[in-house]
Amino acid sequence: MVIEAEGLNNWRRTRNCGELGLSDLGQDVCLMGWVQTNRDHGGLIFIDLRDRSGIVQVVFDQENGSEFFERAATLRGEYVIAVKGKVEARPEGTANPNLDTGEVEVRVSELKILNRSKTPPFYIEDGVAADELLRLRYRYLDLRRPEMQQALMLRHRVALAMREFLNSQGFIEVETPILAKSTPEGARDYLVPSRVNPGSYYALPQSPQQFKQLLMVAGMERYFQIARCFRDEDLRADRQPEFTQLDLEVSFMERDELLSMMEELTAYIFGEVLGVELTLPFPRLSFDEAMTRYGSDKPDLRFGLEIKDISKAAALSDFKVFKSALEQGGVVKCIAVPGGADYTRKELDDLIPLAASFGARGLAWLACQAGGVKSPISKFFAPEVMQQLLEQAGAKTGDLLLVIADQPAAAHNVLGRLRTEFGQRLGLTDPQKLSFAWILDFPLLEWDPDEKRWAAMHHPFTSPVDEDLGLMDTDPGRVRAKAYDLTLNGVEIGGGSIRIHRRPVQEKMFALLGHSKEDYQEKFGFMLDAFEYGTPPHGGIAFGLDRLVMLMAGRPSIRDVIAFPKTASAICQMTGAPSPVAPQQLRELHIKNDLPGNKKADK
Ligand code: AMO
Ligand code: AMP
Repeated sequence: MVIEAEGLNNWRRTRNCGELGLSDLGQDVCLMGWVQTNRDHGGLIFIDLRDRSGIVQVVFDQENGSEFFERAATLRGEYVIAVKGKVEARPEGTANPNLDTGEVEVRVSELKILNRSKTPPFYIEDGVAADELLRLRYRYLDLRRPEMQQALMLRHRVALAMREFLNSQGFIEVETPILAKSTPEGARDYLVPSRVNPGSYYALPQSPQQFKQLLMVAGMERYFQIARCFRDEDLRADRQPEFTQLDLEVSFMERDELLSMMEELTAYIFGEVLGVELTLPFPRLSFDEAMTRYGSDKPDLRFGLEIKDISKAAALSDFKVFKSALEQGGVVKCIAVPGGADYTRKELDDLIPLAASFGARGLAWLACQAGGVKSPISKFFAPEVMQQLLEQAGAKTGDLLLVIADQPAAAHNVLGRLRTEFGQRLGLTDPQKLSFAWILDFPLLEWDPDEKRWAAMHHPFTSPVDEDLGLMDTDPGRVRAKAYDLTLNGVEIGGGSIRIHRRPVQEKMFALLGHSKEDYQEKFGFMLDAFEYGTPPHGGIAFGLDRLVMLMAGRPSIRDVIAFPKTASAICQMTGAPSPVAPQQLRELHIKNDLPGNKKADK
């Protein structure tokens, strides 16, 4: 018997495909899902039926009627069907070990075709080689692929675990506005014109930072939110123009108590969602230590390859490049790449442009071979100086030393990037390994050479370390902040700080950032005013939910764990947003487009 109708006609789905097994033998079931494959074995048609839970084989037997069988033969990939039938064990020798349900199949007695499908532009299966832009254009098909479904289900479980833990700790979830105020500092804002206030704009929030602090002033004590944030910045694999934070803030708590509570939260999430037990507490590194040892404020601690200072030996050499770098206050530092001493000339030559792409002004190498050191610069080193250099570098036979002479910040940056590159090339970045670390004691300010002013390293509401308050007047560059980042496998997954909660300190901070009194009163007056009404000491953190889920899912990009992400040019490939709007809409918003645009599009 075959029925085709628009609705389900009282058919009720009783089971999910992926959950059927030997314990269900003899059961009558009604399944609904998508046709994965259709194999006609003459007299028998085998369909792999897929729903969110997985795949099960359903079998149509010609003996059940020829019309029925003919309909089954018309089923194509992605047709939506409902079947009724009995769960049976597969005949001896036909079990499919690659399928969770591979020991059973469903003998179909009734078929309903719920909808047909065009041939999809790519296969609905894991590991498709399809171009990502095509996948984004047909995102609703891409999301049908099991690995994408699992990523979104993982994301759901992570958010749920976050809510469970924070609820158990007395946090309440509060929503804050999306139509917010544009304030200076931070990234570029997304602006929304106001129709009823001509010439005025809302800004989409870069984070709920100011609102969450005002909730502390408001006596909420423990707030959290799974909050959407908007930043108009250049995009990368781990950056989207809109992304999601687990944002939270607490009153009456100092840094260390907050950090250990966040470790408990992280451990709860990994335990609940992945069944992985994390070792607490997480290692802690100061910003300075992270930069000098790993050349990054988000070091990947799954492997060593630490940066070594060979300035002392370099100073004793006759190599002009090193000596002049040192004379100008620079450093000579290196990393040792195990096994690199055998690189071919071509491999060595290719390292120069690689280092240059990381911002190096030059790169020197020394190959520590069994017979001695091979290097274009070995002639500048007396044997005992070379010996000192090797000791300072901690070099072993077989190592290739990659040496950078430059100002400390530049040298650390280049070596940090070379370290990351070789960590990957040498296969030291095992995704099963989870290396968390807190980075602490960041500088409060960093010098912005373009704008020639101090900029907040985290944001302007971050409190200076108490002992360094005096330095704000005398040596602002040396003031440390009560800020912290949480890193996992070389990715910054969270950042926060204990905040300034008194008006005079906040005013001093704005002044240091180059704002005049009128200026900061106008831009941040509401915060400053609030600070005069009994603001409790408070602090908080925000986790990048997308990045955390990306790492938990073992995916290379946050686009893989966001249902509808944007491309590198901030375009939604599926809907075409952003798009031009009708002139009438612009008129209502009091906007005229009269500056030539720089049209940028994805190919
Ligand atoms: P911050 O700017 O460090 O701090 O952001 C917190 C975390 O959010 C994630 N993140 C991003 N993820 C995807 N795409 C982006 N464009 C992006 N930008 C940031 C990162 C980062 O660690 N209000 C403060 C937090 C606080 O002080 O409490 C804030 O937003 O994982
Ligand atoms: P040059 O004098 O620029 O021809 O460089 C001589 C050697 O020094 C080459 O092997 C360069 O790659 C190397 N070199 C130049 N600048 C640096 C630098 N900043 N750090 C390390 N090596 C350098």
